[in-house]
Amino acid sequence: MTGSATRMATKAEFHKMAPQIEDLAKTWITRGGNFAVAVSEVEPGAVLARQNDPEEHMVIVPPDGPTLSISAGGKTIEARADSLTIVPPGASTITAKSKGLFAQIYSKASTDIMALASNAAIYADGAPELAPPDLWPAPYDGYRLRHYPLAPYAKADGERIQPRVFRSTNMLVNLFVPFKTRRETVGLSPHWHDDFEQASLTLSGRWIHHLRYNWGPDLASWIADDHGEMTTPSVAIIPATVVHTTRDVGEGESSLYDIFCPPRLDFARKKGFVLNEDEYPLPEVPADDTVRTGGSLLAWQKPG
Ligand SMILES: [Fe+2]
Repeated sequence: MTGSATRMATKAEFHKMAPQIEDLAKTWITRGGNFAVAVSEVEPGAVLARQNDPEEHMVIVPPDGPTLSISAGGKTIEARADSLTIVPPGASTITAKSKGLFAQIYSKASTDIMALASNAAIYADGAPELAPPDLWPAPYDGYRLRHYPLAPYAKADGERIQPRVFRSTNMLVNLFVPFKTRRETVGLSPHWHDDFEQASLTLSGRWIHHLRYNWGPDLASWIADDHGEMTTPSVAIIPATVVHTTRDVGEGESSLYDIFCPPRLDFARKKGFVLNEDEYPLPEVPADDTVRTGGSLLAWQKPG
């Protein structure tokens, strides 16, 4: 890791903030350098229509989320609780069939969404510290709605940390199996990413994203470690080079979804790790491909 962080982390706790869009759906929008996270609380009948998104976007419905009817590319699917849907570029419509909360992830190509973000001012400089968000090759069978119920990818008697990774042409998400027990404080994984950001979206439980900002030469610019607890639903946008590890500290079941845009090449190249890898070709690997992540990584976080 070289240099110090270019910006502070964004920590958005949605129920303490005014939504950016409010009608039959309340929507809170938080951006990173290359993406935006839009979390919506919908009433039955709410319609969220998009006219012309240039790239794919993702719809995450948590285990206690609503049923959504999602239309795009001449097809309509019903997205129920505990599912991921990848929406193709172009026009799309989401109609809520029941009440609840869900999340959508857009790339920076959806400029109207990016402009609405509550933290847009933090990214007014365009985030030059990040690697450029190259669009990866189109899916083998062309762009279309792709729907993944998530329950089949959860092992009831499996490890406490069960990553479930999916990707599109423009982003990669790790939809961890919900946690029923708390993380032990002797098994944390403080690490950093050299040239990409991470969004950690939490829709249930209470969480601490431990954050440490690297020192620069100016003592006056040093930033204290951040161990602040966050309510849910909330998202933390973790800047490049900031050391981070996340701990859930609430009661009952808790949910965590990590978001990377563009997709992480180190994860995408691990054979069998990305659950829908058979649907998307890998890009040409750049000649200067080097390690982008360092620190105390868990086995599944290490390059394969
Ligand atoms: Fe990370």
